Amino acid sequence: MSDVKISSYDHMVNMLNLVSDSELKFKLLTMHQNLKDKIEYWPAAISHHHKWKGGYADHVKEVMLLGISMFNTINSAGERYSKKLNFTLDDVIIVCYVHDIDKLWRYKDMPASDYRRQEKYGAKIWDKADGLLYPDESAKVVQICAKNGIILTDEQIEAVSHHHLGFSLNLSSVYSYEGSCTGLAALVGSADMMSGTIFGKVQ
Ligand SMILES: [Fe+2]
Repeated sequence: MSDVKISSYDHMVNMLNLVSDSELKFKLLTMHQNLKDKIEYWPAAISHHHKWKGGYADHVKEVMLLGISMFNTINSAGERYSKKLNFTLDDVIIVCYVHDIDKLWRYKDMPASDYRRQEKYGAKIWDKADGLLYPDESAKVVQICAKNGIILTDEQIEAVSHHHLGFSLNLSSVYSYEGSCTGLAALVGSADMMSGTIFGKVQ
């Protein structure tokens, strides 16, 4: 068995290549390449999970991997029980890939003096970026995608905005407001929570 370790960035390239819509795949791969430096630098959070350099890449790779795996499992189970899913593998890949993309602009480096002091004491080494104006993370995700020629569907936007499941501002539980949390949102939210809680505490 090969022992070669593939970077999270490259692992994401492999998973983006699974997108069946060739035009969408090209746009996603182009955006991925253009954002490479940011993807490999920033953390996924500054206190909760994946708070190390490159934590963003590790987290998003895990969410994509878990999302694709869960989709394949429930899709084959659905075929067995004649239940057709109302979302596709392309939906899963794109939403898992972009669900946190606003975070590439959300943080800033601490001043060098603070960095040394905080690194020594194990505290955070990044802070929230100055001048953050947007209260709605999903709106920023939609904007970033649009700037890269990627127009999310209503279902994909719904899944991005509910990817924290019961912790969303407008959704106290996945079961509240019947019908407002779709299967796609539940799948992406589960993958996000699993990545953050199972893999997000240790590098
Ligand atoms: Fe996330």
